Amino acid sequence: MNILTTQNLKVYFPKNSKVVKALDGVDIFLEENQITALIGESGCGKTTLAKTILGFYKPTAGKIFFKDFDITLKENEPNIRRNIQIVFQNPLLSLDPRYTIYDSLYEVVFAFRKIKKKQAAEIIEKAIYQVGLDKDILFRYPHQLSGGQLQRICIARSLINKPAVVILDEPTSSLDITSTLKIIKLLDDLQKTYNLTFLFISHNLKLLKKISTFCFIMYKGKIVEYGPKELVYNNPAHPYTRLLMVAAELKLKDFQEEENFDAACTFYGRCKFRSDICKVGYKKIEVEPQHFIFCNFATAVDYTLLNK
Ligand SMILES: Nc1ncnc2c1ncn2[C@@H]1O[C@H](COP(=O)(O)OP(=O)(O)OP(=O)(O)O)[C@@H](O)[C@H]1O
Ligand code: SF4
Ligand SMILES: [Mg+2]
Repeated sequence: MNILTTQNLKVYFPKNSKVVKALDGVDIFLEENQITALIGESGCGKTTLAKTILGFYKPTAGKIFFKDFDITLKENEPNIRRNIQIVFQNPLLSLDPRYTIYDSLYEVVFAFRKIKKKQAAEIIEKAIYQVGLDKDILFRYPHQLSGGQLQRICIARSLINKPAVVILDEPTSSLDITSTLKIIKLLDDLQKTYNLTFLFISHNLKLLKKISTFCFIMYKGKIVEYGPKELVYNNPAHPYTRLLMVAAELKLKDFQEEENFDAACTFYGRCKFRSDICKVGYKKIEVEPQHFIFCNFATAVDYTLLNK
């Protein structure tokens, strides 16, 4: 069952006399109890999508459904706050430096439940234990913890009220590789143990290869490819997804400045396979069952050109 769905979601920001189309018709869906990956390079609109789902930004157009509720409507807002939580990229910016860890967690527990202090303390200790930390840490301040410990606290905080969906917005990008792997393992274990639903956002395709089950690839505010993880990873079909796959091996000399074009396909300016028809439109192609791309030719192009 899809627990969260966006339909033709658009968020445009004014910029001088123009607009930035941070989201330009995004359709995604999250299956319950699965890790769905949203992958795309910096500036493609990932955080805007997360914040719009959370209600921080009002959509320019489109709808967001949590179960059957359109949560872009004001009257359905109470369904968002407890049920959809987020873990941001930089844990130090997510926690109030004046509060102990205990106080930061207490504030969140108490926001949704009027409970006795003793009961809150039990919930907080359990949450800390779930993310592999010791309760001694509760009376420290954020600056007294490592980046990895802080991100565990943010994960505990996001889960403490048993939300239906947690959005993880590049939760490891400020961490070193050892801490990153530990946090990925923790998230994978938590998801399996508690049957959680995650939207895991990253610019790193490799990072999500093992743990996600479904993925969406995003470029300049649009989804360009989506499908079950193994299909997209084993048979990437859109030129942008192919580029992401080889990006780790790219050298500085390979960097190609984007040319500016007014084209229907947002990838036109970087695409080695473009043709005039891509200026006016592009197709949705089902590459194989459940696996889709938005491109005129991608299934027919010679990808060895990408490495030339
Ligand atoms: N509040 C805002 N006001 C104006 N423009 C914004 C705002 N937030 C984001 N943008 C613009 O929208 C586009 C998408 O930004 P967003 O932060 O969603 O990208 P991102 O994919 O999360 O990038 P990163 O990987 O660097 O975090 C960018 O061009 C950004 O400058
Ligand atoms: S539609 Fe055309 S320009 Fe866009 S990715 Fe496909 S081939 Fe390239
Ligand atoms: Mg971001």
